[in-house]
Amino acid sequence: MAKPVIKPLVVLLFSLTLLCLLVSECSAIRRHKRRMGQRAQLSLEECGDLEKLEAIEPDYYRIEAEGGVTESWNHTNKMLRCAGVTLIRRTIKPGGLVLPSYTNAPQLMYYVKGSGIQGMTIFPSCPESFEEPEERGQGYREQHQKVHEIRGGDIIAIPAGIGYWFYNDGDIPIVVVILLHTNNVANQLGTLPRRFYIAGNTEDEHGLGGREESISGRNVFSGISVNLLAEVFGVSVETARKMQGAEDKRKNIVMVEGGLDVIRPEPGSRANVNGLEETICTLRVREAVGSAARADIYVPHAGRIATLNSIKLPILADLQLSAERGVLYKYGVYVPHWNLNAHSVMYVTGGSGRVEVADNNGKSVFDDVMKEGQVVVIPQNFVAVMHAQEEGFEWIAFKTGENAMINALMGESSAIRVLPLDVVANMYQVSREDAARIKEARDQAILFTLPPFDEETPQGIMAEA
Ligand SMILES: *[C@@H]1O[C@H](CO)[C@@H](O)[C@H](O)[C@H]1NC(C)=O
Repeated sequence: MAKPVIKPLVVLLFSLTLLCLLVSECSAIRRHKRRMGQRAQLSLEECGDLEKLEAIEPDYYRIEAEGGVTESWNHTNKMLRCAGVTLIRRTIKPGGLVLPSYTNAPQLMYYVKGSGIQGMTIFPSCPESFEEPEERGQGYREQHQKVHEIRGGDIIAIPAGIGYWFYNDGDIPIVVVILLHTNNVANQLGTLPRRFYIAGNTEDEHGLGGREESISGRNVFSGISVNLLAEVFGVSVETARKMQGAEDKRKNIVMVEGGLDVIRPEPGSRANVNGLEETICTLRVREAVGSAARADIYVPHAGRIATLNSIKLPILADLQLSAERGVLYKYGVYVPHWNLNAHSVMYVTGGSGRVEVADNNGKSVFDDVMKEGQVVVIPQNFVAVMHAQEEGFEWIAFKTGENAMINALMGESSAIRVLPLDVVANMYQVSREDAARIKEARDQAILFTLPPFDEETPQGIMAEA
């Protein structure tokens, strides 16, 4: 009986032990975190007067690059500042390569669609993990850090300051939405999101929208003198200039001619999760949270919910982030619920649905039909309910805690179900029969189906009897 509990625990302890052994600063970081009370509290005052939430789109800044488009949300938005996050979205053409960059905040990336490969400059002290058996001439043997295959439905976790690149090797554009948690203990650079590119003539997607024409050579090398760069790398001044990227017209995403030639993971290696893959140098950073097989809650005809936390993906313990993938089918409902210990940053990946949110004063702070591409922040403890329209409704919710949990207000194991009948009868001033009806409502999981009804004269459940 105890097996299903013990196995993940053993895996978790094993990987944490390795992590602590191999990264000497680990325990110091943990002590520091405990001192900091788990999370920096830079923007809490922004949450104080959140009168209204709004569905927001990535209309802050748009960069058209050779290989695709980058769009950003306005990071000065009150709702985003309350949660201490900002987001960008990238759309990458087939054959497009997103130049390597790192940020001052941990990131969670959700691949909405497309397929490709992603590589990280993970943990600088790790040896390169892929090596070609043959030399490429002139005594050079190619070595590089492991690459991951990625596809729609995958989440990738990136620690602060770790660089990554990705490449579209499929036939359709990749769409990826990326959350930056700037209000994180790992960020000591202030609340502004900052991205450091290590190549290209890149633009800052969080820079002031509509500012002056692109400034040349914004990658980190352009801030170092070209002669020193040439000497340090032992290359010509001309090559050093190319590293600085001032003449490069391609911007943040470039096209690769004739396909990218890198050493790939073995076919089928996607299946090889848990187990031995989890050492620090190849720490698992990917989870197929969007796959139907990963759902924690599945209700036929209504929908499914998959949660991703630090138990399933241990690196999230250090990032202090988790996620929820929700899919509601036609007219599906996600019952009223609240997040116990995190804010929820919800990005709509498809369909449309009505979302209502209530605050602690019982005031409606949000009541809107949301559609693909929109973001809303549901603050900690605020009560939310979602109702899909005819075409269904799906989202990825990034949560600002390593093990975000929800408490439902109806359905099995809900907050009201566990109250004594007479408490319910007295608190709502209803008969014991009605109290029983409220307590046992829907008698099922947190998802069900509710066809459209007349808002003005709702029939309620009595009419069915
Ligand atoms: C970003 O939002 C702020 C309000 O927080 C607003 O004043 C500003 O105009 C917005 N900027 C853009 C480019 O939309």
